Amino acid sequence: MKKWFAVIGNPISHSLSPFMHETWLQENNIDASYIPIQVEEGKLEDAVKGLKLLGCSGWNVTVPYKEAIIPFLDEIDDSAKGVGAVNTVVKTEDNRFVGYNTDGLGFIQSLGEIQSENRVLIIGAGGAARGIVHALKQSGFHHLYVANRTYLNAEKLTLDAQAGQALTLQEAEAKLGHFDIIIQTTPQGMKNQAESLPIRLNNIKEHAIVADIVYNPLVTPFLEEARKYNVRTINGLGMLIHQGAIAFSYWNGINPSSDKMMERLTMQLGGNYVNR
Ligand code: ATR
Repeated sequence: MKKWFAVIGNPISHSLSPFMHETWLQENNIDASYIPIQVEEGKLEDAVKGLKLLGCSGWNVTVPYKEAIIPFLDEIDDSAKGVGAVNTVVKTEDNRFVGYNTDGLGFIQSLGEIQSENRVLIIGAGGAARGIVHALKQSGFHHLYVANRTYLNAEKLTLDAQAGQALTLQEAEAKLGHFDIIIQTTPQGMKNQAESLPIRLNNIKEHAIVADIVYNPLVTPFLEEARKYNVRTINGLGMLIHQGAIAFSYWNGINPSSDKMMERLTMQLGGNYVNR
């Protein structure tokens, strides 16, 4: 039977994953397809049964099912256990379905060459921040700081992850010169207004790296602001591509090309943005 893969979520029509994976499958001469499936509220268990029954070889999971899918899988890999969220399901040779989380590692890979001694500030304390903190800890980073609008949520994240120090946004702003890498994870990035910046960047360190997990717009107001200080900026497209590339390699045993995909998706999103 021809292999097939999927992405499940709700909504799903906006997902760039089908384009990305179909392109990689063709580039690597793999006779398989990758389809988006919208799963209605309350239908997740049925959907998972259907995927298994219909011979799906593996699938991605997106909002709002990354946590809810866990009870329906046979095994959860460490990458997903600590975060409590799965974005990739792999079918094993003995027909078991294993949940992984490739978001955090994908994000770290999107930063390029970075040192684990770097001091990293994560802004936000939601699901995305949790995944990134977990992956940074796993990758040996030990100078982690989580700043959040609601301090208690930052504190909870650092306690749960047993990593990092919690800060208020004001504290982060005041000691900004201290950080080598600044990561914006709040949904504020999507709003196209300067007043939506979670912190001001006046005190930013020379040669800092500023990343935003949002990729639409390609240049968020936060990255726009960072560019005024001539620092390297990285948008969320690399994270999307690298998390997908890791999933693709789990399913197909091949690492697909991320650089070419970056150009393609940037064009799809109507920009000529280059991370710099
Ligand atoms: P995700 O799971 O995608 O990371 P989330 O769980 O909704 O998203 O997390 C939202 C994060 O963005 C939280 O840290 C939230 O701060 P609070 O804990 O104070 O709610 C943060 N956030 C949302 N809107 C914000 C805003 N206007 N300014 C600053 N932070 C904001």
